[in-house]
Amino acid sequence: MSKELEGFAGIGHREVLDRLLQRAQPQDGDAVLDVGTGTGWVAIRCALEMQGGQITGIDMTPEMLAQARRHAERMRGEERLQFSLASAMSLPYPDGEFDVVLSSLALHHTAVSQSLDEMVRVLRPGGHLAVADMGAPPAWRLAPISWLMLFFTWAYKLRGNPTAKAEAEAFRQTYTAEEWKNLLTAKGLKRTQVEAVLRPGQRIYPCVIWASGEKENTIG
Ligand SMILES: C[S@@+](CC[C@H](N)C(=O)[O-])C[C@H]1O[C@@H](n2cnc3c(N)ncnc32)[C@H](O)[C@@H]1O
Repeated sequence: MSKELEGFAGIGHREVLDRLLQRAQPQDGDAVLDVGTGTGWVAIRCALEMQGGQITGIDMTPEMLAQARRHAERMRGEERLQFSLASAMSLPYPDGEFDVVLSSLALHHTAVSQSLDEMVRVLRPGGHLAVADMGAPPAWRLAPISWLMLFFTWAYKLRGNPTAKAEAEAFRQTYTAEEWKNLLTAKGLKRTQVEAVLRPGQRIYPCVIWASGEKENTIG
């Protein structure tokens, strides 16, 4: 994955995670949810860096979760990690369950708005949400580039194999920095911050986007 990221955005997986955790600000003792945990590295990093607390990673691919569990077994803090099979679009947790909800490079594989609704729902008032994901550079919204993108997405989909279809769908779930800002605001988050990194010298490749915000604290 790191090589793909380097190719598109000129940035490695470790840096994506570093910046994600800076934005998520998990504190010792927090309950943290990692959505689309994959092989578990984000959740494991949280367990290593936090004292106490409980870190839950969810993913809808059992093979990914099996790898995550294998990785966690070798790590300090393993007893505070839990990996579960679930979809980002229907999280099996009560409202307000987590202090921090984060996700790395997974949301564009889901219906982003629906996943964000769920992530905000399970976040406690005053809690932090932070996302790193593949994003769309602003150029993708300019005609005629936007028409060409639409054409290629449909052409890709028409190839008919499931991977091409999934990738075309994922492509439609990438948003520009400005669109991310609007999405977070529409979900009722405060103190939102969005940053996009494009590969130096080009404006057409997908970029990496970090988007974060705080759920309104209804008490104070
Ligand atoms: C590119 S991987 C990123 C993994 C990890 N977050 C990381 O940064 O190393 C994307 C992950 O999202 C998961 N995923 C895709 N759709 C999902 C959904 N609807 N709910 C939960 N996980 C999903 C995939 O199974 C995969 O493990």
